[in-house]
Amino acid sequence: MDHMTLVPPEKTSQTDPRFRGELSSLPNHIAIIMDGNGRWAGRRSLQRFLGHSQGAEVVQYVVETASRIELPWLTLYAFSIENRLRRPQEEVGFLMKLLHLYLVKNVKRMNDNNVRIAYIGRTHELPPDVQETMAWAADATAKNTGTTLTLALNYGSRVEILDAMRSLLRHELAAGKTAEQIADRLASEAADGHLSRQMYTAHMPDPDLLIRTSGEFRISNFLLWQIAYAEIFVTEKMWPDFTGLNLIEAIAEYQRRERRFGGLGSAPEPQPAEATPIPV
Ligand code: IPE
Ligand code: IPE
Ligand code: MG
Repeated sequence: MDHMTLVPPEKTSQTDPRFRGELSSLPNHIAIIMDGNGRWAGRRSLQRFLGHSQGAEVVQYVVETASRIELPWLTLYAFSIENRLRRPQEEVGFLMKLLHLYLVKNVKRMNDNNVRIAYIGRTHELPPDVQETMAWAADATAKNTGTTLTLALNYGSRVEILDAMRSLLRHELAAGKTAEQIADRLASEAADGHLSRQMYTAHMPDPDLLIRTSGEFRISNFLLWQIAYAEIFVTEKMWPDFTGLNLIEAIAEYQRRERRFGGLGSAPEPQPAEATPIPV
């Protein structure tokens, strides 16, 4: 793979003229659906696993670009519950090995770049040795204060919502609430906040920008609750071809969008047309 196309981190720093004067509209949280590894390989007559290897190689370049622009939160969809259940055992096993290797190989670079690693998903269902490496990497980077890189692993958004609902109900029942009181609380205006606090993502802001590679216009069970008002950016690029520069381009596109959150935004209100006299 030709890494010459990857943007060296210093070219994407805050001193880059593309960012001058626009730092205030930088997103706080970017989430990426890293899709297209298999097609990237297929187009080169390579086996799928080589697409996954190449996909894992480019992750760190994107992470380091995020770190250089001081993005607080970067969340990468690396492995879904559906991937675990619906893909051949050999592919799932290979992805687990790749995750282990990625962590072992990159913890030093994460520390050099002040990146902290965290995870969301049903990670307790992953192989125990992989969980050990994950815990080691989280521990080894816990003191870093720059970008938080969250890997979504064995993640499914519907399951997350159900898990959150279950822990909310457990919490309320343990506090002695009646069914009526629980129903009232869920009907209150603050109910979405209560549920958000039970999600795997409780400690982070909702994504401002959601990127999907490989040209698919779908969410594939990723952060359904949290992306309610995220800006969506779909690129035709397959994940192994995605670079730090592409991340910057997505941010530039995000900065051109007007976010309204259901309000009226900054567009001038239309003036009523002058009454035209009705001809008699
Ligand atoms: C994304 O690449 C990585 C994972 C889902 C683990 P895919 O493996 O989905 O690649 P395509 O979509 O088949 O090209
Ligand atoms: C989404 O990609 C999951 C990840 C990127 C980890 P998929 O390849 O699993 O999504 P679908 O099946 O095309 O919707
Ligand atoms: Mg795919």
